[in-house]
Amino acid sequence: MKLSGKVALVTGGSRGIGLATAKILSENGATVAITAKNKERLEKAVLEIPNAIAIAADIRKTNDVKNVINKIIEKFGKLDILVNNAGIFPEIKKLHEIDEEEWNKVLDVNLTGQFRYTKEAIPHLQKTSGSIINISSDAGIKAYQGFNADAYSASKAALILLTKCWALEYSKNKIRVNCICPGVVDTDMTKPFLKTEKDKEFMDNEHPIGRIGQPDEVGKAVLYFASDDASWTTGAILTVDGGESIK
Ligand SMILES: NC(=O)c1ccc[n+]([C@@H]2O[C@H](COP(=O)([O-])OP(=O)(O)OC[C@H]3O[C@@H](n4cnc5c(N)ncnc54)[C@H](OP(=O)(O)O)[C@@H]3O)[C@@H](O)[C@H]2O)c1
Repeated sequence: MKLSGKVALVTGGSRGIGLATAKILSENGATVAITAKNKERLEKAVLEIPNAIAIAADIRKTNDVKNVINKIIEKFGKLDILVNNAGIFPEIKKLHEIDEEEWNKVLDVNLTGQFRYTKEAIPHLQKTSGSIINISSDAGIKAYQGFNADAYSASKAALILLTKCWALEYSKNKIRVNCICPGVVDTDMTKPFLKTEKDKEFMDNEHPIGRIGQPDEVGKAVLYFASDDASWTTGAILTVDGGESIK
């Protein structure tokens, strides 16, 4: 199996893309830790993943993040793979209508959160020559008419550049850092935009392949980056988006 003997942490692993990814990593031999804020949802999710543990933590709290990494090291002795996946989507509003608190909340989870986990994980990944996979978004690559989620777009664009910065800096430790930019994926995050048949048809047509994505289609790309199949790949930004970003 591609990830035999590897220990992986998936943030936001309680549902959606994170849960699908955690399952795929586990099916491919990894021992997996999932983390998310809502304890009940997290503990239910971990039952679906063989060979996994759940550690509840709010990505906005440094001590919670430190505790997740410490628990993994205590239990498994090492960390090989970090999947920076947890994220939130704001209420759709034009830039001049959002207040600073709304702006900061999105950046705190989607950007500073990824910084917190990466910072704590790096010393352990240096020992294993590990791998980081950042989950960004097509919204970090291009602007979409009427998208109106600027804090989200900013957080995802920043994560793309940080992927390259971290890849360059930590290549000396043989840590690989790569990034995936999904298009619209069928998860709780996108449910509010897929309420009616008309909404669904619109979203499907936004993607040249003719449909939105499923969480495991992103998880399979994470598996590629995490495995030795990508042993010479670092700093890569991969769109997994049914062609949405090429329009
Ligand atoms: N779905 C899409 O179309 C799409 C497209 C492009 C990129 N993405 C990105 O893919 C990632 C996963 O998205 P998804 O669609 O799977 O979202 P989702 O179904 O809403 O799941 C989000 C995950 O993030 C966790 N999370 C949110 N706030 C947190 C916090 N403060 N502390 C700890 N965990 C927190 C959630 O845990 P709780 O339930 O405990 O809050 C949940 O596990 C996100 O980064 C998203 O931006 C998604």
